[in-house]
Amino acid sequence: PEASYETITAEVVESKSVGLLMLNRPQVLNALSEVCMREVVAALKGFDALPEVGAIVISGKGKAFAAGVDIKELKNKTMVDLFVNPVLDQWNQVSRIRKPLIAAVNGYALGGGCELAMMCDIILVGEKAVFGQPEIKIGTIPGMGGTQRLIREVGKSRAMEMILTGERFMDAKEACQRGLASRLIEGTNEELVAEAVAMAKNISGMSRPAVIMAKAAVNAAYESHLEEGVKREQAFFGATFGLEDRSEGMAAFIEKRKPNFQNK
Ligand code: CAA
Repeated sequence: PEASYETITAEVVESKSVGLLMLNRPQVLNALSEVCMREVVAALKGFDALPEVGAIVISGKGKAFAAGVDIKELKNKTMVDLFVNPVLDQWNQVSRIRKPLIAAVNGYALGGGCELAMMCDIILVGEKAVFGQPEIKIGTIPGMGGTQRLIREVGKSRAMEMILTGERFMDAKEACQRGLASRLIEGTNEELVAEAVAMAKNISGMSRPAVIMAKAAVNAAYESHLEEGVKREQAFFGATFGLEDRSEGMAAFIEKRKPNFQNK
């Protein structure tokens, strides 16, 4: 994951326990080009495969998280082009990363930028965060899961308003109130990213298999029907009783000491 990239930076930090990915095309507000898509997916898969990394932070350099898919690249595509080569398809792989993804959003998260943030498991926002799905204003619709995810995050009426008008962007405070984001971090962009890294480091200290099962179980509710989700949760819950970390965690609680997890 630390290969040299053109449109992002990717490094492991906090004694290699956290993967930190920064979108790095600030001159075009981190517009998501095809190269960028391939690099983000490659870096995330790299982090997912590194045993030391327990959680991943995604943020953007400059004043945007990402202002959407690169419109200059999309402009000349035809319907046939997109049918034969669905260029946005690879973005779906972000939601298949097994380790937790934390988005640190300060500034514009529009179109594909909003959709990328929503593919993450936790969104932390800075004061200048702005979410929106303006695709309708350029004659198209969201193409990276926005129509499906936004309605779950903010409800039908607000999601429809954003998607159908392309306006009424959502600020940081409203995003927290509605549950799109989990928390507002006051201060600079650097302070926001530092908070996200601290959260990732904390998660990285937990039992790795338990974290992966917890994320998969929550996503079962998010991605499927309730009954199916509850069944998957119960199966995972039972599976944690096969972990030494589970015995150790419970014993440590009763003995009033810190747990010493082996699998992390
Ligand atoms: N694609 C390509 N370039 C973009 C871009 C995008 N999505 N967003 C911004 N840029 C570029 C601008 O073209 C500009 O480049 P130049 O300096 O070469 O002209 C540079 O970034 C700075 O942008 P602005 O001058 O426009 O900055 P601003 O502060 O005046 O406005 C903004 C900021 C309101 C975010 C405005 O840039 C904007 O509306 N951007 C496009 C937002 C959008 O429509 N996103 C959806 C894209 S389609 C999509 O994402 C499809 C999907 O769902 C999968």
